[in-house]
Amino acid sequence: MATAVTYRRQCAEAISAYSGTGYFHGRPWLRVLFEDVPRELFTPDRVWWHRRDETGRYPVLDRHRQPDEWLKAVYTPDAALITQIADGAVRIEDGPTEASDFTASISCPAVVVDMLGCLSPRPGQRILEIGTGTGYSTALMARRIGPSNVVSVENQPTLAERAERNLKRDLGRAPLIVTADGEEGYLPRAPYDGVLSTACVYQVPPAWLQQTKAGGVIVTPLATPWGPDSLVRLVCDGQGGADGELVKPIYFMKVRGQRERLKPWKELGWPLWSSYRISVAADGPASIRTAP
Ligand SMILES: C[S@@+](CC[C@H](N)C(=O)[O-])C[C@H]1O[C@@H](n2cnc3c(N)ncnc32)[C@H](O)[C@@H]1O
Repeated sequence: MATAVTYRRQCAEAISAYSGTGYFHGRPWLRVLFEDVPRELFTPDRVWWHRRDETGRYPVLDRHRQPDEWLKAVYTPDAALITQIADGAVRIEDGPTEASDFTASISCPAVVVDMLGCLSPRPGQRILEIGTGTGYSTALMARRIGPSNVVSVENQPTLAERAERNLKRDLGRAPLIVTADGEEGYLPRAPYDGVLSTACVYQVPPAWLQQTKAGGVIVTPLATPWGPDSLVRLVCDGQGGADGELVKPIYFMKVRGQRERLKPWKELGWPLWSSYRISVAADGPASIRTAP
């Protein structure tokens, strides 16, 4: 059985080999960071695999029963491991399930790398994260900018507590983990140089825009009228508005308060992602337009 370090290095190699833009390309610091953080420390002992098996159910991976399969899954570049279904109503002890209303996961390594690359936080900057989950992306960010410069908001107390324990084990001390509705941001530490949301929105919450400095960056998955969500990078104007780009298609679970929200935009047809720009007005919804 290979060690975690070996699997982590292989995972980094695979992400480096991806031909798309983003990932580690042009960002050597990000690869060093990725190879430094023990993702296995943040992964629960039992998780659901993100794809159905031949019986149509999501299988469970158990660290103690299948140590090698579990570790390989932890370091599969495009595998998000599911840590909660239906807000905990589906129990992992009950084994494989057909239920697909995923409400928490440890996001897949390639997507976490892409999101951090998109944000590109610099040491010393102050960043607000939404959706602490297991604490994995929080750990990467804390290593980059310093634990005291990260605030991470998670609305589920049990997840927030577990993430805090994981972060203390990994870093010696945890960044500030706040149990609250992330759509409200976190005013006491504002303004931020950037916001990273690891849960998807239909509407960018006004608090994120208001709590980010002029020139600061918001990176978030945003629901689109096209099927997949989009990774979005917005530059804030410091007055509650922002302008930016649709980076690439991704799939993400929605923030709790926006699970049922209807898509606000009319159907636009299947897009060439890079041909659109996005604006968010201080007093209105996001609008997508064709880039000039
Ligand atoms: C994809 S998971 C986050 C993955 C995490 N960053 C990691 O590395 O493990 C999304 C998380 O967002 C949380 N979440 C959903 N809605 C939220 C809200 N309104 N405020 C704060 N957290 C929220 C979920 O509970 C879940 O833990």
